[in-house]
Amino acid sequence: MIANVLVKNAWYAAGLSQEFKPGELVGQVVAEKPLVLWRTAQGKVVAFDDRCCHKRMPLSEGRFIETDLLECAYHGLCYDTTGQCVRVPAHPDGHIPPRARLRPVPSIEQDGLVWVWPGDPAKAEGITPPRLPEMTDPAWETADVKGAMRVPANSLLLIENLLDITHFYPLHDGNIGDVENSKIPIKVEEGKAADGTPFVGTVREVRNYRQPPYLEEYFGYDMVDRDHTHFMLSPGLTRVKMRVWPAGRFGDPSVERGYVINHTHTPIDRRNHVWHLICSMPKGMMCKSDPSRTAISRFVETFPGVIAEDEWALEKQQKMFDYPDDGYVEVFLKPDTALRRARMILNRMERQETPAAPKEIAAE
Ligand code: FES
Ligand SMILES: [Fe+2]
Repeated sequence: MIANVLVKNAWYAAGLSQEFKPGELVGQVVAEKPLVLWRTAQGKVVAFDDRCCHKRMPLSEGRFIETDLLECAYHGLCYDTTGQCVRVPAHPDGHIPPRARLRPVPSIEQDGLVWVWPGDPAKAEGITPPRLPEMTDPAWETADVKGAMRVPANSLLLIENLLDITHFYPLHDGNIGDVENSKIPIKVEEGKAADGTPFVGTVREVRNYRQPPYLEEYFGYDMVDRDHTHFMLSPGLTRVKMRVWPAGRFGDPSVERGYVINHTHTPIDRRNHVWHLICSMPKGMMCKSDPSRTAISRFVETFPGVIAEDEWALEKQQKMFDYPDDGYVEVFLKPDTALRRARMILNRMERQETPAAPKEIAAE
């Protein structure tokens, strides 16, 4: 089943930086790997396999008995910030078994997010998470609209949803969508980042477009020229940019409005993922109905309704994969080109992770 994808050799967002506080354990599963994470007293976020090396008790259920000294809740083995076991209560002679240590998981904190690499650590060499410059730029305001959302669907279904916004009609009709949106011509762009990570995305340019109500409220204009892009930059991130100008003034920076939405999609397993919808808008951009309020505060207030529509669709869609195909054939429409490419990219990445079957040795 092509939509049933799970790529492990990739950077995935474990959460926003502010979710990691010194002395607080975070337990989560990323691409079928149970992880324990915490911010050390030195300020660095460390990540390890969540299973205690003794009897697999999740360490995220443990506690710190001293600063950065993590005690397992079961038999009390203690670990330091390198994952080394440094205390075994059942060994009063102080003996530490040589293999008593946690397996570290690569982690990077960048642009206000903590990223982890659940796959083969050696494959992370030279690869970095996509950059999200607005997240820490003081000229922008950023909101993680609903925080971590657990969605009972394969993360590829969300990526496909983001790359094909012809679902704005009918799913989001009357808030951010309308049928005219589905008619906007689409250009597909594909390539590789400097570190070799493949990307694919869509560019939609339209002139003299009547904005649906929410977008008119955020950006202030009713009739606009618009540039709207959606790019899957890695298996863990899809980045959306919308720029609008009053109709007839395409590209005029003096009247440009818009937003950037970074969608992180972190697989838990093949049937579940965690989605963060992180919106950034230029500071001081006010909404139409109340010029004393920022557009981003209106976005945070109103957009959860749009998100709920997507969650509803993704969950329903995932459930249909439980039935045998039994002759079912999926139809691709013209706007499906980018999502089809995204599937191929992720399926190829997953295939590359599977060790090749050993060659049969010919009988002599
Ligand atoms: S399982 Fe952790 S100390 Fe025994
Ligand atoms: Fe949607």
